[in-house]
Amino acid sequence: MFAGLIMVAMNQTYGQQRNFRQRAPRESYTPGKALIIINADLGEETISRHIYGHFSEHLGRCIYGGYWVGEDSDIPNTRGIRNDIVEALKDTKIPNLRWPGGCFADEYHWMDGIGPRDQRPKMINTHWGGVTEDNSFGTHEFLDLCEQLETEPIIVGNVGSGTVEEMSKWVEYVNFDGVSPMADLRRQNGREEPWGVRFWGIGNETWGCGGNMTPEYYAQLYRNYATYTRNYGEYRLNRIISGANTTDYHWTEVMMRDIGTRNVWGLSLHHYTTNWNNKGSATQFGEDLYFDVLRRCLEIEDVLDRHITIMDQYDPNKRVALVVDEWGTWYDVEPGTNPGFLYQQNTIRDALVAGLSLNYFNERADRIRMANIAQTVNVLQALILTDEAKMILTPTYHVFEMYKVHHDATLLPLNIKTADYRYENQSLPAVSASASKDAEGVVHISLVNIDPENAIETEINIRGYQTSLVAGRVLTAPEMNAHNTFDDPDRVKPVVFNDFQVGNNVVTANLPPKSVVVLELK
Ligand code: AHR
Repeated sequence: MFAGLIMVAMNQTYGQQRNFRQRAPRESYTPGKALIIINADLGEETISRHIYGHFSEHLGRCIYGGYWVGEDSDIPNTRGIRNDIVEALKDTKIPNLRWPGGCFADEYHWMDGIGPRDQRPKMINTHWGGVTEDNSFGTHEFLDLCEQLETEPIIVGNVGSGTVEEMSKWVEYVNFDGVSPMADLRRQNGREEPWGVRFWGIGNETWGCGGNMTPEYYAQLYRNYATYTRNYGEYRLNRIISGANTTDYHWTEVMMRDIGTRNVWGLSLHHYTTNWNNKGSATQFGEDLYFDVLRRCLEIEDVLDRHITIMDQYDPNKRVALVVDEWGTWYDVEPGTNPGFLYQQNTIRDALVAGLSLNYFNERADRIRMANIAQTVNVLQALILTDEAKMILTPTYHVFEMYKVHHDATLLPLNIKTADYRYENQSLPAVSASASKDAEGVVHISLVNIDPENAIETEINIRGYQTSLVAGRVLTAPEMNAHNTFDDPDRVKPVVFNDFQVGNNVVTANLPPKSVVVLELK
């Protein structure tokens, strides 16, 4: 009935009937069991590695104290950037990094962040704690970080309080190889070669913190910015439209109608797994809130499907990527920490959210070609937490590291029937799965069992592929709120998984309660 009401409301909004893709209802399957059929010879889509991307803002201790400690720090660093964080993220094959915000992007003036550090003007970070930003981490430092990480930068320009000229000059500074005022200034600041940054966001949340604009107004502004952010030489820009907030389908409609596909690489969307009325603790929760977070996480599937359906109408050839450039869990901050710094812990529950979300992004690889979890270090659903010189990897980190096998692999179509995970009178599909085949022909299957109490015996039938060798890894924990701390950093980490049998192209795996499993088939 609720879905029916949404349809009525949407038809009223758009004045027309739209056939949203109906997700096949997941059949309630035998308790304790799941059945998956994988068509290993039918893959067509590539899972872009950029789905496994990241977002890092000038917010709390993400940049300062996270990546950046400065050249004089006792913490081992390369030109001011922490070595331990770079090594850890390289182990996940981090494909991209979005910066400088978030809301911060639309207050940031890039020219304040270049030149000698002791001469850079300061500013107030009004969105995040009202702290003083000294601009010591700017364009050169960010792009040095990306080079150390061997990852692609995504720069978000200032549309809310900046100008077209300012963003146009930023692109010239970063990408122009010849003689020009901006390219010469870059050389004067110590960088001879252009960096050649491909991905540029034209503003962030322009419906909110990025300027409180109407979609029509922003769409026109986008066209203007897109015109004057130039392609220089071989560096073609992949421009990203500042997209909708969760269920704002009207925003997507207007972007596709008024901007369309010209000068566009992607259309963004932000969707956080949270209860905005009562975010709750990251670690202190019972099964009611465990269930609630996973239910909200699974909602992303229907929300994104609806945005994709609108995009399909205007862009049936799928030229424009859907870019989920902020996603993840958002809880209350850890007790005693600055409320503006969004520092939260990370449990096995967050690992399940990551596994479910990434399985879904893979499934829609035909349209979703980039996603960025918020926010890598010390903020929201972080992969890494730091305390001075100490660093820990969160359960979410381990999912990204385990799932790196899907980067740029061919998505394999699959069908799944699964038992339900039942809590009181509600239920969710217990098992989610995604499969891909990499360039060497190796098949990987990522599986998530969200049931916190019951293992699920999962029969996987693989069509069109001969399997004899199977290896696996599993991430699980005894308690729903298990997490890593600076005193106990390895409480939740992946271990070898061997609770499976292989026979005649059927693998039967016993997925432990609240677990993420990745199988490799050769
Ligand atoms: O990730 C934190 C904030 O959430 C970002 O700055 C903003 O874009 C979003 O509202």
